[in-house]
Amino acid sequence: QELKLNLEQIEKGGYEHFMLKEIYEQPQAIRDTFRGRMRVKEGIIKMAGVDDHIDKFINAKRLVILACGTSWHAGLVAEYIIEELVRIPVEVEYASEFRYRNPVIEKGDIVIAISQSGETADTMAAMKLAKEQGAFVFGVCNVVGSSISREAHAGAYTHAGPEIGVASTKAFTTQITVLTLLGLKIAKAKGKISTSDFHMHLEELNLVPQKVEEALQSNEQAKKIAEVYKDAANFLYLGRGFNFPVALEGALKLKEISYIHAEGYPAAEMKHGPIALIDEQMPVVVIATRRGHYDKIVSNIQEIKSRKGKIIGIVTKGDVTVRDLADYVIEVPEIMDSMSPLLTTIPLQLLSYHIAVMLGKNVDQPRNLAKSVTVE
Ligand code: G6P
Repeated sequence: QELKLNLEQIEKGGYEHFMLKEIYEQPQAIRDTFRGRMRVKEGIIKMAGVDDHIDKFINAKRLVILACGTSWHAGLVAEYIIEELVRIPVEVEYASEFRYRNPVIEKGDIVIAISQSGETADTMAAMKLAKEQGAFVFGVCNVVGSSISREAHAGAYTHAGPEIGVASTKAFTTQITVLTLLGLKIAKAKGKISTSDFHMHLEELNLVPQKVEEALQSNEQAKKIAEVYKDAANFLYLGRGFNFPVALEGALKLKEISYIHAEGYPAAEMKHGPIALIDEQMPVVVIATRRGHYDKIVSNIQEIKSRKGKIIGIVTKGDVTVRDLADYVIEVPEIMDSMSPLLTTIPLQLLSYHIAVMLGKNVDQPRNLAKSVTVE
């Protein structure tokens, strides 16, 4: 019998697109990010790039995160996580803005450059500028040996494995994982977290891969919702706290591959503009997990409902309140609020994937976009 599989089909491992394969690889990718670093029983996190410079991290006055695109969204999630754990200010900058604005870098600042490819021109230029001004630069890259990883003073790879789909998926969740480990490690070294709390975080983080596995079971529901709303001209994505950046990322995923206009907003900002857009034509994806500002999100949902917007809620398993109000819900497992982005992101990736496929778009290579942007 003739062997019909070509190389690309083999590489896709039975999935129709690289993007879908990479979405499904996330439990393993996150496990690979932990491997050799997180020792749950012993209660330690080993990261050579941090251990070798631990004094710098302990004494840092401020962290400045530089990135573009999806990596910038991972930086925003990290801002919330690291400020909470370490209690030092974290700023997240678009590399393209930072590099052209004569930025203020002070002694004791640590710059973290996040880049899947490690080749993004703006991120590279921004980190070089920070280096020239005396900052210690830490790289978070996926591609081993990439330019940004070589230019950094130290760093940590995400170990997500090759990401082929232009729309970033597993790179995003593994970036958040690395940055969570980093935050926990600095907090521990600075004595900002108790031993028992630290252990609790490690144990919770260790459960993430299996919870992501569970979140992936929302695939059929995501497909059903995609079928209903695929012809919408606009989408709104709302989230608060740790899930505000997830709303931005959900909107970006939809724009990138389906070419539907979508905007992400912090839910409370809705009243300052986006609420004017809401009518019966407008699907609104609301991240409404139980532990994160739940009551406030529920009242945001009521505001959308009273204006006849269509509500797609991303909720904690077993939720009833939002289920009653929403047109559709997708459940994710219960988890500590700070780790919820690793779960809430999953259904949003699946939703945009299915919409793009149904609209007949080129999911892995969307028009006008490139996997790594090495020009300005
Ligand atoms: C491009 C890609 C995005 C990516 C961004 C930053 O726009 O299409 O998926 O998030 O670049 O890339 P980086 O490799 O620096 O993370």
